[in-house]
This record gives sequence, C-alpha cells and structure tokens, in this order.
Amino acid sequence: MKDVMDLTADEAAEELARLAAEIVKHDERYHGDDAPTISDAEYDALRLRNKAIEERFPDLIREDSPSKSVGSTVQSKFEKITHVVPMLSLDNAFNDEDVADFVGRVKRFLKWPDGEALAFTAEPKIDGLSLALRYENGKLVSAATRGDGAVGENVTANAKTIQDIPQNLIGENIPEVMEVRGEVYLGKSDFMALNKRMEEEGKPVYVNPRNTAAGSLRQLDSSITASRPLKFFAYAWGDVSALPSSSQFAMVEQFEAWGFSINPLMGRFENTAELIERYRLIEEQRSSLDYDIDGVVYKVDDLALQSRLGFVSRSPRWAIAHKFPAELATTVLEKIDIVTGRTGALSPVARLTPVTVGGVVVSNVTLHNEDYIAGIGSNGEPIRAGGDLREGDTVTVYRAGDVIPKILDVDVSKRGDGAERFEFPEVCNSCGSPAVRETNEKSGKVDSVRRCTGGFICPAQAVEGLKHFVSRNAFDIDGFGEKQAEAFYEWGMVMNPADIFTLQERDARSLTRLENRDGFGKTSANKLFRAIQDRRLIDLHRFIFGLGIRHVGEGNAKLFARHYQTIEGFLAAMDASATFEGEAWDELINIDGIGETAARAAVAFLSDPQRRSVVDSLLENVTTVPVEQADTSSPVAGKVVVFTGSLEKMTRDEAKAMAERLGAKVAGSVSGKTDLLVAGPGAGSKLKKAVELGVETTDEDGWFALVGPL
Ligand code: IVH
Repeated sequence: MKDVMDLTADEAAEELARLAAEIVKHDERYHGDDAPTISDAEYDALRLRNKAIEERFPDLIREDSPSKSVGSTVQSKFEKITHVVPMLSLDNAFNDEDVADFVGRVKRFLKWPDGEALAFTAEPKIDGLSLALRYENGKLVSAATRGDGAVGENVTANAKTIQDIPQNLIGENIPEVMEVRGEVYLGKSDFMALNKRMEEEGKPVYVNPRNTAAGSLRQLDSSITASRPLKFFAYAWGDVSALPSSSQFAMVEQFEAWGFSINPLMGRFENTAELIERYRLIEEQRSSLDYDIDGVVYKVDDLALQSRLGFVSRSPRWAIAHKFPAELATTVLEKIDIVTGRTGALSPVARLTPVTVGGVVVSNVTLHNEDYIAGIGSNGEPIRAGGDLREGDTVTVYRAGDVIPKILDVDVSKRGDGAERFEFPEVCNSCGSPAVRETNEKSGKVDSVRRCTGGFICPAQAVEGLKHFVSRNAFDIDGFGEKQAEAFYEWGMVMNPADIFTLQERDARSLTRLENRDGFGKTSANKLFRAIQDRRLIDLHRFIFGLGIRHVGEGNAKLFARHYQTIEGFLAAMDASATFEGEAWDELINIDGIGETAARAAVAFLSDPQRRSVVDSLLENVTTVPVEQADTSSPVAGKVVVFTGSLEKMTRDEAKAMAERLGAKVAGSVSGKTDLLVAGPGAGSKLKKAVELGVETTDEDGWFALVGPL
C-alpha cells in the first residue's frame, strides 16, 4: 500500500471512496449481521488510513465519510430511536506510555496545577454491546442500541427480558428522566452452553459471546431473547433531567443502589501508576472472569471536569480505553496446502493443530502468498522475528481483536533438524500449468501472488468460476450452489457457465438423468431447471459480474453496465480497446470509478478466445436487461463531453456523473469525436486543441445554462 504522503489527489479521492464503501460494508457485517469478517485490528487500520488521508487532503473529505459516523448504519428491522445524547466511542491506548500521554493531555487541557492529584476511575471494558435505557419517573420506557451513534434501534421488548435490567428503579434520588447506559453481554460459560445446544440442533454456531449477545438482543421475537441468559453492567448515562451525583464513581454506585449490576473491578485512583496497577490486576484476572473484556477504561472522575473536557469528534476527551494486547496461543503448523482460486491465484493455507484462541477453535490460517511464508512483507521488510514458516513449525497464533486468525511468529528453537524451507510450487496442482508471478505493467513491480496460467483449462479455476457465476450477486440460481457446481463439473455436465443453460436439453437426451443422480430427485431436478429458466433474463451488471473477471467486482460491473448500457455496447468497447490505446480505450479508462487495472483485466478477459466463446454461447441462451436508459431528451444525450480545468461549482466526479445521467459520454481527452468541451479556469492544452479542432467549448455557467442545475 502506498504511503499516504505519496498519494496524488486523484489516488486519494479514489481510496477515500473505496474506504468509505468498505468501512460501511464491515459496519453492516459487524452491527447489522453480527457476523464480522475482519478483525477489529484490521477494521481499525481501515479507519486509521481513512483518517490519515483525510488529514492530508481535507478538501476531499466525503459527505459519506466514515469519520463522520460511529459504527453501523441502522438496520430497518427495528423501529428507530434518536439518542438525545449521542452514543460515542472511546479513543484507544495501547501501552503505558499512551496512558501517561492521556493523563498529561487531560491535565494540560484543564491547566491542572503541577503535583496536584487528579482522580480517575478504572474499570474493565466489557466486550458486549452498549445499550441505552430510558427511565421516566423510575419506570423503564425504552431501550435503544447504539446504532450509528445518533440513531439506534428500539429493542425495549427484548431488554425487558434481561434480568439485570430493572423495569423500575428502586430507592432514592431518582431523576424524572434518567437514561442509564451500559453493556449487554453474554457470559463465557453461557455462550459455550448455548453453542453446544445450537450445534446439537444442527444450527449455525456463533463466533463469540459478543456476537451472540448482539444477535440475541436483536431478535424480533423477544421470547428468543428471553431464552438467552444475557446480562448487563451499568457504567454510563445519557439524557438526565438532574444528575444525582457529581462524580463518575458515585454515579455508578448510585446505579447499583437503584438495582443495577455494576462491575466489581471498578476503582477510583489518583495517578497514572495506580491506573496501570489496576490495569495489570484486571489483566491477570481476565481469563478467569466469566465474561470477555478487551481492555480497561479510564475516566476522569469529577463530572464538572468531564464537561469542561468535552468531546473531540467521536470520543470524549475525558476517557480512554487501554486495550489488552491480542490473546496468543501456541500450536503446530502441520501442513501448508495450496489452493487455486477463480482468478488462478495460488493461495497457501496453513493447516494447524486445532487450538483455542479467544474462545474460538482455529485450525486454518491463510498465509497470503509465498513472500509471506518466507517472512517478507510487501515493502521487502521482514514481517516476523523467526523468519520463514516451515511445515512442522511451532507458531503463535492470535485473533487480533476478534475474528480472522493470524500467525504472529514462529518459534525457531522448536524446529526439528530436518525441517526444510517451504518450496512454493511453480505449477498449479489442479491442472499442472506453470504458475507465475506477473509483473505489473504500470508499476513494474512483481506481483506477490503466483497465478496458474492454465486459465480456461484449469479445473480449479473452472469450478471456482462456476461457483462465482451462480453466486448470490451474480446469476443467483436457486438450487445451484457451490456443492452443485462441484458435482456438475465432476460429472462432466457443466464445464462452464454456458453449459448451465443447455443442461435441461442435454439431460433430456442423456442416459443418466439428473433426477436419478445422487442428491437429486424428480422434484429437485425440475425445480432446478425452472430456476435456470428464470435466469435467462438477467440484469446486465449481474451478467458482467458473473463472468468473474479479475478486479471486476459488483461495483465495477455496475459501472460498466451503466456506462455501456447494453451487452453489445460493452463487448464492442472491449474489442475496440484490445490494443490498450485509442479512443475506446481512453473512454474506458475514463469511466468514473474504473481504474486502469480493472479496465485491462476486462479487455484481456474478453479477448481470450476461449473465454469469449463461452460469453458468446451464454448470450445465445441469455438475454441481458439493459440498465435504465439515461435521459435521451437532454441536449447532451449521446454527445461526447470533456471537462477540463478546475471546476468551481461541482467536483469532477459530480460533473461526470451529471453528464452521464443526461446521456452524455464523458471522455478524458479531446479528439475529433468530442462534441463539447467544458473548460474551467486554468484550462490549457485541451482547450487549445478543442479550439483547433473546431469543437464547441463553454464554461461551467454555459454548461448549467445548457443542461439545467446540478
Ligand atoms: S464508557 C462516551 N465504559 O466501549 C463513551 N464504555 O469504545 C462512553 N464499553 O460503545 C463509554 N465497557 O460499548 C465505557 N466500562 C465501559 C465500557 C464501555 C465497554 C464499550 C461501549 C462503548 C465502547 C466505546
């Protein structure tokens, strides 16, 4: 990855767009589906990179920037509740020095006299999900999840089933409005018992207690929530009509008096050394606690000081979370398997002696590529102290934060004498073709991934390609999943996507009918044929995505579909770009959002005769639905427009999108085909060329006068 300091503005804008989309996706998986696919550390890295780029290019900060929101966008399954006081998150400290810095920052901000003690609380950071409980006149009226920090989900009925949550506050000093906040969690032992039950019932098991708690709280049927032994610790508050105490510590003690559970490890301390001491104590007890914690939270105790300190963007200035280092486990790397994927990439997977890390059994870990196995990072620097990984090695494994397991290091002292360096295969083990590391034409860098050159003839690529073709966001054929893709390929019935659409016809003439094969019957075979029939009409972007062109994910497929509008248009443009130069090529790489890598991959894919013949056969059986036609009545419909110079009333992206919406094609350079050049201040050679060629030119005002407002 490029250093932020080396990014051009264009690259930065592109990356910010990518990061925004990616962070939203992971937010949804984490908060919406309670099924994250990356670790917390990796997620943090995405956010940090986004932040770093935004700091360098403040002009490029997007409307939908992830830095403007906390956590997920709210799912629609529950009613929404707008938090009167936003639910924010905490800044992190990763070592003692960060903690000392935090205390120093707080004191400087408050101009705290040297040598005078300043009290902080310290308490475990519970790894659950936060919940805001609103009491009016002591009666629980609503419970809301954090959601995106501003708006959460109304889970009142479910919260009422949690024993630790009083439905009525008892005792004294109860304000008229009192919103108590805290963490809903599931005990480790309850989690294991529940997962055991799920397994016995043949249901999917949860990854960890946190996700289970989240999944349990977000049930539409509150009797399911009631059947899960969720618990709750109160530690904070939101909207309050009158604060009953003046310190953090006293507030939480008040919660206890009203009937809440509070964490017994919370304490009040006078200096950094004492905070760290409490941190060590909690860390020592961590594994014997019956709930997951991932750090210790320090908070300024005096509430008047808290309010003076206030907030910076997403987090309070008066609190910090001191995170625990990731939990480690030691195991043996038994074997390295190489798997060929859809795009031919040879992916090494470490098979481990199963080991429990953070409550989850880990037995496979991706090793990314051969440099990673050799212990070399993408910048050429060593990535682990022990060097390369060998079969039989003793390794330490962690799940940084949560989800995806990784190898931290290898213990070379435990390596047997006979252990040999792992030799990464140079041929594909599926088809025997040479596997090579390509050189990137643009950067001249050698790719870290070795790829099978078998392409079309490689069974592994073919099967993976089939799986991709029928996947949910592509052709989404009911009853044709990964298992069926493998079986049909093995039976020689479906060797490529086009075969799917002739399956029924061939089956009718076949000696071994599908209905007589393993896993099928008359009903399921007919159902499958019907599902295939249903897909003879398919959205253009699904068709393009389904082809499985490298670097052409759903997003790029949509961009192609929107730009070229018909399959004929798309294919003609790819053909005309076969030399990677000329007008069609220029047009292609100027599609907003399409990078050169994806463009090259699409052209190369479609100029491969075998792949092309599959596409052609597919089109004999499948009709693509063109994307919604752009406005053809606009004055620029069908025209080729070029924007140049610095635009002042719209961004370059907006200009492109607007022109495309109006049915124009946006090109990057001026040629005989250009119909209109829109030139902002500072326009240079393109304006000159347009004038020379007699192309109509205008400025931004002229553009708006022509097409109307943005
Ligand atoms: S105080 C303004 N205390 O951590 C933030 N949060 O990263 C006030 N959490 O959303 C939060 N244990 O879900 C606080 N003892 C604790 C906590 C805690 C867990 C969670 C909470 C919050 C997140 C912030």
